[in-house]
Amino acid sequence: MIYVTRRECFNAAHKLERADWSAAKNQEVFGPCANPNWHGHNYVLFATVKGKPDPETGFVIDLKKLSTIIRTEITNKVDHKNFNLDVPFMKGILPSAENIVKAFWDILVPHISKMGCTLHSLKLQETENNSVEYFGE
Ligand code: NI
Repeated sequence: MIYVTRRECFNAAHKLERADWSAAKNQEVFGPCANPNWHGHNYVLFATVKGKPDPETGFVIDLKKLSTIIRTEITNKVDHKNFNLDVPFMKGILPSAENIVKAFWDILVPHISKMGCTLHSLKLQETENNSVEYFGE
């Protein structure tokens, strides 16, 4: 089994805030991500697909096609957007990196399956020091 990874970058704003919590508690739990006037991150998404190389092409997946899927279905819809306000598939969902990567997974899986490939993992880097990784369970 070979694991193939495509990296895509985007910038987006968000705010982590629970309406049922006080401003002080939001600040305490979410820190700078609770800033009332929003803030942005330079997100980096790593999508890893697994499979056996095609005997003719030697590819597990055509990375150009994988890139097109990720851009069309995800990054074009979130780049330079506000996760809380502008992204329909995040409506009503607290836009933590964990919740964002899960939403991305649900969007990507059927498109990658249609190509006869299996999505192995999605890693979303929110800062240079913080990232989350999801394997679909
Ligand atoms: Ni943040």
